[in-house]
Amino acid sequence: MSFLTEIERRRTFGIISHPDAGKTTLTEKLLLFGGAIQEAGAVKNNKIKKGATSDFMEIERQRGISVATSVLAFIYKNKKINILDTPGHKDFAEDTFRTLTAVDSVIVVIDVAKGVEPQTEKLVEVCRMRNIPMLVFINKLDREGKDAFDLLDEVEQKLGLRVTPMSFPIGMGYDFKGIYNIWEKKLNLFSGENKQKVSEGIEFDDIDSSELDKTVGESAAETLREELELIDEVYPKFNSNEYLEGNLQPVFFGSALNNFGVKELLDAFIEIAPSPQPKKAEERQVDSKENKMTGFVFKIHANMDPKHRDRLAFVKIVSGTFKRNTPYLHVRNNKKVKFSSPNAFFAEKKEIVDESFPGDIVGLHDTGNFKIGDTLTEGEVLNFKGIPSFSPEHFRYVNNADPMKAKQLYKGLDQLMDEGVAQLFTLDVNGRKVIGTVGALQYEVIQYRLEHEYGAKCTYENLNVHKACWVEPEDEKNDEFKEFKRVKQRYLAKDKQGKMVFLADSAFSIQMTQQKYPTVKLHFTSEYDQ
Ligand code: G4P
Repeated sequence: MSFLTEIERRRTFGIISHPDAGKTTLTEKLLLFGGAIQEAGAVKNNKIKKGATSDFMEIERQRGISVATSVLAFIYKNKKINILDTPGHKDFAEDTFRTLTAVDSVIVVIDVAKGVEPQTEKLVEVCRMRNIPMLVFINKLDREGKDAFDLLDEVEQKLGLRVTPMSFPIGMGYDFKGIYNIWEKKLNLFSGENKQKVSEGIEFDDIDSSELDKTVGESAAETLREELELIDEVYPKFNSNEYLEGNLQPVFFGSALNNFGVKELLDAFIEIAPSPQPKKAEERQVDSKENKMTGFVFKIHANMDPKHRDRLAFVKIVSGTFKRNTPYLHVRNNKKVKFSSPNAFFAEKKEIVDESFPGDIVGLHDTGNFKIGDTLTEGEVLNFKGIPSFSPEHFRYVNNADPMKAKQLYKGLDQLMDEGVAQLFTLDVNGRKVIGTVGALQYEVIQYRLEHEYGAKCTYENLNVHKACWVEPEDEKNDEFKEFKRVKQRYLAKDKQGKMVFLADSAFSIQMTQQKYPTVKLHFTSEYDQ
């Protein structure tokens, strides 16, 4: 297969949803179509379960599962599908944001009864900002839920999307009869039994045919005709370019649990979803069809075995062919490195591979050389953009609880931060370290992992910080900036890259600071130039 064909056949995407909307179930059904797993139930649920076990034990269990489900790849109709796992739990939102830098499109799953939920809103906002093409799957049609049109309105309003229904349900919950596939002009009828069977659907070119009345009943047929007419009048037609530019979002209905509407979603997905896209580096834009290999690290996973501090760095190939045992430039370290056992991911296994193509994810064994955001090339100095740090929501001082183990503590903190578990800030005034996290759970993770993997002990101390703002002065030499630094000295810190950060104690303080020092810009992400 030629290099260009390899690129064209790849679809790398993420599924995003609020917990419980059905992401795991949908993933599992998609894998079934790829023949990647034999039966449902094989994709482990990677949710944080409440209750039974203590939080950090649960996190350890999680970490084991999430290595396995980080990338699920399979072949369907000769397309190579790479699904990148995105944690739904809000405390791990930052992992999800980072993973979204490595996808070429996403599928948004919405629960028909619950509608648009907070976590969906946040994630979709990030996708919208980056113009990532999105497909929407409205799930659980076998249950009573909101009216389909109301739901489409809600998706438009709350998520700020412009939708075009590609399929439409006939009834819902108890009365759910099936789905009319507008895209393929087919009718799929629902049968509650035999949940793994994929119905091929009945061709229904002419919706006015009396066959429809016979199949679904007169009243349901009439309603469907009216609804389709309304759709035709009200919603924009599907347009591939608009979808690819992130300006139009096709919507599908179905029930993941019953494997209903999933094949239609997948068939449309492989047709319309983009193959690997160009990616911006600070220096220039890199096209996937370029021959020279480039890629970037979007995720680092620590090994489960604390005795070997081995980690797996997940690299998304942006261009060229990644080859085993070939030296590549690790741009940040300015060092050539080669990899004797790069892993590729298939369903739930990983295997050593000789070659990977744009859109693929390779897992590279690492002993601490990689950081999230690092770029690999064949020699060109490139730094891929788009892996920002968001302001954490929680802040605590970290103290060393065992003076004999200071070195271990700092090494551990350093490596955990490289993995992206949390962010570390160093206060200018006294050099104290502050850990910032998205969720409170991370403090437990850090404490537990420092002790078990590095033999270091830490304690935390509360600190009143509302948000971390990255500081960008218009002019470093002007008096306003000097005064800002003098007055706010107590609140200034450096992030791990040495960038200046203002740890504001309240929203009011941010507002006042912005008013008082208009030439000193405050940003809520570390990558503010894009
Ligand atoms: P998540 O990954 O987005 O968090 O959701 P997940 O797939 O785990 O699904 C959450 C719950 O919703 C599960 O039930 C799952 O069986 C159910 N579900 C998913 N799709 C459908 C659907 O189309 N129809 C109906 N009726 N239910 C659906 P659970 O009881 O929480 O878990 P389980 O015990 O079934 O695993």
